[in-house]
Amino acid sequence: MASKEEFRKYETGEPIVTVRNLSKSFGSLRVLKDLNCDIKAGETTVFLGPSGTGKSVFIKHIVGLLKPDEGELEVMGRNVPTLGERELYELRKHLGLAFQLGALFDSLNVYDNVSFPLSHHTRMRQKEIKSRVAEVLELVGLPGTENKLTTELSTGQQKRVGLARALALNPTIVLFDEPTTGLDPILCTTIDELILKLKTELGKTFIVISHDIEGTWNMADQVGVLYQGTLLRYGRNADVRRDDNIFLKQFFGRTEDGPMIGV
Ligand SMILES: Nc1ncnc2c1ncn2[C@@H]1O[C@H](COP(=O)(O)OP(=O)(O)O)[C@@H](O)[C@H]1O
Ligand SMILES: [Mg+2]
Repeated sequence: MASKEEFRKYETGEPIVTVRNLSKSFGSLRVLKDLNCDIKAGETTVFLGPSGTGKSVFIKHIVGLLKPDEGELEVMGRNVPTLGERELYELRKHLGLAFQLGALFDSLNVYDNVSFPLSHHTRMRQKEIKSRVAEVLELVGLPGTENKLTTELSTGQQKRVGLARALALNPTIVLFDEPTTGLDPILCTTIDELILKLKTELGKTFIVISHDIEGTWNMADQVGVLYQGTLLRYGRNADVRRDDNIFLKQFFGRTEDGPMIGV
């Protein structure tokens, strides 16, 4: 059956997400306007932009939480807007989500948070789950924190636990909405470096939403600048960084005044 088709392996550099003419409105508010991009496997792609510009709405389309009004969106060969519940569920096993809001269950400890996807989406035995939880906590630099309550952790540690949970099912693509929001600059650097390290060590595809410019230069292979629902620029890190476009110069803080509103 076509719906049972295996998820294949993607080589580094191969498009793993393709977005074509994607548009989305809420009532009269046009949030995404004709977006186009390819996101490559094995790379970190960072989408940057002022707040309220459609970044979270965009990432929610990738994971099938929102449906576009127009356009096409393919993730790992699946035409996302057309998927039924069952197929979305299968796709999401390959996507690790670490989202800004509702990230962790406050009343649970670290173990329960990180093991949640394993006990709900796999038939792994308790012993295997325990060792996988220990493994991902080690990966994010929080070994041995299983019994801590998430409320006992710092914001930076909570983000790491969110990342550990996103990694638990060994997803192909890790999506991270605002990994550094609410963190001081030193903690931002640690999270950026962690993402960089994980990409290199695990060969995963990272899709990161951020408004941290320095962090973006640190960790991104590809950078998308979203502004009022449009991709102003989508290119390699070094090229975007050097771009002389007046909007980009303003957004990246290389000039004080410019045409961008709400930066
Ligand atoms: N479910 C929704 N219903 C109505 N409006 C929404 C919804 N989700 C987001 N929006 C609006 O879409 C715009 C973009 O939001 P968002 O993608 O969250 O911005 P950001 O770039 O800060 O992540 C905002 O004006 C927001 O209020
Ligand atoms: Mg957002």
